[in-house]
Amino acid sequence: MGQLYDVAKEIADRIRAKCDRKVDLCVVLGSGLGAFVDALDNQVVIPYAEIEGFPTSSVHGHAGNLVFGQLNGKDLVVMQGRVHFYECGDLKRVTLPVRILYCLGCRRMIVTNAAGAANPAFNAGELMLITDHLNMMMAGSPLIGLNEDKFGERFPDMSEAYNHEMSDILRQTAKSLGILLREGVYCASHGPEYETPAEVRLFQKLGADAVGMSTVPEVVVANHMCMKVAGISCLTNKAAGLSETKLSHAEVMECGRKVAKDFVNLLREGVAKML
Ligand code: HPA
Repeated sequence: MGQLYDVAKEIADRIRAKCDRKVDLCVVLGSGLGAFVDALDNQVVIPYAEIEGFPTSSVHGHAGNLVFGQLNGKDLVVMQGRVHFYECGDLKRVTLPVRILYCLGCRRMIVTNAAGAANPAFNAGELMLITDHLNMMMAGSPLIGLNEDKFGERFPDMSEAYNHEMSDILRQTAKSLGILLREGVYCASHGPEYETPAEVRLFQKLGADAVGMSTVPEVVVANHMCMKVAGISCLTNKAAGLSETKLSHAEVMECGRKVAKDFVNLLREGVAKML
């Protein structure tokens, strides 16, 4: 007991030795959405590879940097790129960065991702506020195993996994900027293969509006530590069976770049209001 806590704290101390700014809010950027960091002032960029013990991603298009920055003179920290479950098959490793961010002082998190639109009314190129999630990662929960009491309780409540107050700020910010912000349930499957059309039909029946391969493990762990969370999906394609073309990572990355302007504006304005 306490092992994971000690590991996370030690890595957080290594980060503090490189940048000692106080941070309360962190942003996790998904595939093709790394451009948000360009909106930050006074950046300190630390490649994950230069932080001993920090999980690194192998996926093309995922920069791996921890970026300290400021909006209107207020501090935040950004994860530019994340490790996915399909890369390592280890949910503890996937969620270690969130534990580390907690040890750095973060108590609020905004998660973002690229996702396929499972709701037939939603289109590629739109943004979706995540109101809830379905964990269809068959490998289970990142909380399996001995509970670390220093992080949170054995059976954490998940009835407001996505914080209403933070979500409201993003909702109102989108409205004031004239950005269409869909809302719905994000369903995580483990990947790396995209879903079959039959799986998408199953997920739709369960209530999914978007499907992706990330986010849920991080949100579970953040809730375990009583962090407040908000989430945005960038719908990069219609999900399998709804899309007229085959799905590809290149299409996902390309669409991510296309909606980057709206995404960055929403996040910049929304985060600035939260700081
Ligand atoms: N499915 C799963 N993950 C994704 C998708 C998708 O359609 N698009 C982007 N990430």
